[in-house]
Order: sequence, then C-alpha cells, then structure tokens
Amino acid sequence: MSTLLATAGDIGDNSVLAYDVERVRADFPILNEKINGRPLVYLDSGASAQKPAQVINAMSTAYESYYANVHRGVHAMSQRSTEAYEDARTKIAAFLNASNTNEIVFTSSATEAINLVAHSYGRAFLKAGDEIIISHMEHHANIVPWQLLRDEIGVVLRIAPIDDTGALDMDAYEALLGPKTKLVAMTHTSNALGSIVPIAEVIKKAHSIGAVVLVDGCQAVPHSSVDVQAIDADFYVFAPHKLYGPTGVGILYGKEDLLNSMPPWQGGGDMIMTVTFEKTTFQKAPLRFEAGTPPIVEAIGLGAAIDYVSELGMDNIAAHEAGLLHYATERLNAIEGLTIIGTAVEKAAIISFVMDCAHPHDIGTIVDQVGVAVRTGHHCAQPVMDRFGLAATARASFGLYNTKSDVDVLVEAIETVKEFLG
Ligand SMILES: Cc1ncc(COP(=O)(O)O)c(C=O)c1O
Repeated sequence: MSTLLATAGDIGDNSVLAYDVERVRADFPILNEKINGRPLVYLDSGASAQKPAQVINAMSTAYESYYANVHRGVHAMSQRSTEAYEDARTKIAAFLNASNTNEIVFTSSATEAINLVAHSYGRAFLKAGDEIIISHMEHHANIVPWQLLRDEIGVVLRIAPIDDTGALDMDAYEALLGPKTKLVAMTHTSNALGSIVPIAEVIKKAHSIGAVVLVDGCQAVPHSSVDVQAIDADFYVFAPHKLYGPTGVGILYGKEDLLNSMPPWQGGGDMIMTVTFEKTTFQKAPLRFEAGTPPIVEAIGLGAAIDYVSELGMDNIAAHEAGLLHYATERLNAIEGLTIIGTAVEKAAIISFVMDCAHPHDIGTIVDQVGVAVRTGHHCAQPVMDRFGLAATARASFGLYNTKSDVDVLVEAIETVKEFLG
C-alpha cells in the first residue's frame, strides 16, 4: 500500500500534522482527471467520496477470480465468495467495535437501513401516541421513514431544535424526553451544517427514560472513529460510499438481542430456516434481514475501504481534516459577502455557505469552470434550510485526500464568482 504515514520530517506544504496527503492522493486514480483543463478539486465527498485503487482492485479481483453467489453453494467459488463476504462483515464489526459480527446487517443503502428499522422495529414495537424524537437537522432519509410510520400507525414526531450555530439544543432535547418517548432517531453529524451531535450524551439521556436510539452516522463515520459500544447506540447506520467504498451497500449495526427481537421486513431466499406452504421459520440476525442475493462484491469493496482507512488511522484522518476545516473556515470567512451557515464549535470538515451576490447554483456552476466540485441545493435537508431561512447553500465537504491548496483554488474560484456577479 502506498499510503504510508509520513514521518514528521516529510511534512510538505499540503500536509497537516504527520500525514502524507500526496501519497494518499496517489491512491485515487480519479484525482488525475482534468475538468475544463484544470485538475479536479473534489469538494463533494459528503455526497459521495472517491474510491482508492485498493477498493477498485478488490472489487475487480472478486469479479475476475472468485465471484459466485454466497451462502448457497458447495462449490469452491461460492465458498470463497462467502468467505470474502463474511470477512467484510467481520471487518465492519471490528471497525465499529460491535460486540460480534451478528450485529452487522448488510442493506442496499443507509436509507434502506433506516427504513428497515422503521418498518420492522417501528411496526412491531411502537403504537399510536408513542413519540419519536428527531432533530431539526436530519437528512430526509432520517425524517421520511418516520413520517411514513406516523401516517400508518399514528406515532407522534417531535423535533429537537438547534441553535443559531447549528448545534443541537441539549436542554430543549432533554425537555422533549418523557414517558411517551419510545425512540430517538438522530444524526451523529449534520450533512448540511457539519455540526457534530454529542451523541453519547443524547443516547444516555434517551436510555434514562427507556427509549431506544438509532444514530444516523453517515457523515460521522468517514471523519472520525466510532465505537458503538462506547456510545451505547442501539442502532447505528452508515453509508459505505461516503467512506471511500462502493455504492449499492449500506450498513445497519444493531444490538444483537434487539435485532433478534425484530420481525423480518422483507421475505425471500437466505433469510429462512425452513419453508412449507403452511409455515416459514426465520434465520437469526443478521441473515433474517438479508433477504435475496445481497450486495456481495460491494460488501467486499467496503471491507477493502475499511482496511484502507484503518491503515491510515481514523485519528490521523480526523486530524488532517480538522486542519483543513480550520484553514478553509479562516479563508472563507475573510471573503466579504460570504456567510458560513453552521458554525457549531464541534464540526466535521463540511462547510455550507451563501454569498450576497450569487445564488448557490450559480456559485457551483462558476467554480466548476475551474475544476472545483462543490454541492449546491438543499442537501436533502430542507427543514434545516428552512431553519436558516434559506432555500439552498453551496457546500464544500472535505475528505482524506483534500489539501490546503484545494482550499486556495476554491477561494480563488469564489473570487471569480464575485467578479462575475458581484
Ligand atoms: C446524514 C445522512 N443520512 C443519510 C444519508 C442517506 O445516504 P444514502 O443516500 O447513501 O442512503 C445521507 C446521504 O447524503 C446523509 O448525509
């Protein structure tokens, strides 16, 4: 692997602490691409991260040399494929510090993982009048499944407010907790603002009144190490494609007893023990939630992504990104007419901003001319946009391959926006 950490003496201009970002960048073939003749400056990892050669190669090797369906065959390829698929589950369990591999369910996306809990846990254990707390800064994926449940069985959605910096209002959250609260579904890190929620405290308070907690970790897992036992999450969801892995797979962590208490939500092959026309018996978790052919090669790719970030070290990645966040915040704040939306003290390397002179879509289009990829729009988080009285923002989200010179190019491109539209 070429992504060795540098010794302190190797630190170049683009490195923060002893992290050799140039060696990391060499692992990402797409970073050699040019956009309008300019090097790609990819600042959209919050939407989906780029993939290192290690992940791409692990997936092509699986297809080229041992691909077959899993769990079903006695032949050698099926056994090798099953081994690699289950090996990925073991890596994910270790990465999240789950107590065992049965607590890791492969789904098709993070969105599907939340829907799984809403369907299975929600319909089996919640009833009309029970309350679910979500925050004002959830992604639509952690709002709509609960609304569908509300419309079907009559649960009540309560919204924990955020303050003007985009931080969760802990006192207001605590005030919402009561005997009717049965579930808290909360983001660990906001995709639109970057705010990090003190999730261990949120969970502790929810547990003190007997509520179960689902954490949406999509924007937390790529930026810092997560220990599901230390925070005592009941469910924890993340999106592998934001962690330098492939699309088409999602992860649901659930405490084993909880998962085994839940009914299946989809029926089909692989999730059953026995089937007759009269009666079917089901596998225990995780297989009871993995009906049909799972995302085999995607899971293997995710295993390679976990090896990749683990070798770099999540703490080193977090330190590198904290340096970038600090530098980018300073430089963007210095631009007259630009306002950063989301200024919580605890933030991941995600910066939403608006400009007096330009609509976010115009910002995105103009900076794209010089190869800078930022996201513009409501970021699938319309309620939090409403909270700040906005329809949209431009968002620069950083990953382990970004550099201070990426920030410089972004700032230069924003100056061009001002020249055109200011
Ligand atoms: C905080 C958060 N939750 C959930 C999701 C949904 O992830 P996916 O679309 O991969 O299912 C996203 C994706 O942007 C996200 O940022």
